[in-house]
Amino acid sequence: MPFVSAKEMLIKASKEKYAVGAFNITSIVQLEAILEAATEMKAPVIIQTSVTPAKFLQPEVIVAVCSVLAQSADIPVCLHLDHCTEVSFCKKCADLGFTNIMFDGSRLNYEENIKLTREVSDYCHQKGDITVEGELGTVAGVEDQIKVTEDEAQLCNPDIAVDFVKRSGIDLFGPAIGTAHGVYKTENPVIDTERLFKIHKKLNYPEIQTPLVIHGGTGLKEEVVRELVKNGGAKYNVSTNLKHILIDSIYEYISTHPDEYDPVRIDSHMKKATKERIKYWIDLLGSNGMAK
Ligand code: 13P
Repeated sequence: MPFVSAKEMLIKASKEKYAVGAFNITSIVQLEAILEAATEMKAPVIIQTSVTPAKFLQPEVIVAVCSVLAQSADIPVCLHLDHCTEVSFCKKCADLGFTNIMFDGSRLNYEENIKLTREVSDYCHQKGDITVEGELGTVAGVEDQIKVTEDEAQLCNPDIAVDFVKRSGIDLFGPAIGTAHGVYKTENPVIDTERLFKIHKKLNYPEIQTPLVIHGGTGLKEEVVRELVKNGGAKYNVSTNLKHILIDSIYEYISTHPDEYDPVRIDSHMKKATKERIKYWIDLLGSNGMAK
């Protein structure tokens, strides 16, 4: 089917208490694997890419391939630009056909973050059904060119969240609640699910208006993931885990087949490993069978 609006997809998820997996890609084979896995699981899905892979693969190519594959898949699919700090690239991707754009102003001062996020929101909303994601507070770790140390990470204040959402005009909101991009340095990171629920209550009661996004999805215990979904997480971002699957599966194939020079077999092995992992996430997030 054609791309769908992320807001509609995530309002449904939030109401029905599951989360949609938002999977970061760095290669077209990963993109195919994600869409095949989601189709087999009848799960709505979000394909996303941060700025460096988007520029490397070319946004035009990503839109073309993703929209052709989404057309023939019988599930709702969104295409999201992740953590973009450049207003001009946000606008370019909206022009090209991304359905969802994240302007990441989390390193700016509050007023500047609102001003630039608003500029992206106004642009995307004027263009049509393009939704915008914003972030407040800072998520520790590394996502693309954005590096935040644990000392710098700041959790999102629920009262300020309401002001931010209203004034920036965003459709989806990613509050910093203690999750981190990349691999967690401690076995039991402190994740503030209560804070998430407070923010959810302030923004989404009595009616879901601004679905919440969980950043830093890799490496959390399964019970924590379920708690995050139960407390309002409607879009759940996974990037690092998929990069590891890609590199480890290719390495494993090459090291066990040292004399075979067949790229299709290497890619097929990686695709199979990626599909299995996507199915694991879909199951954990409760979105299997929700593509209705
Ligand atoms: P991880 O790299 O921890 O999976 O986080 C992904 C993310 O939040 C992308 O925006």
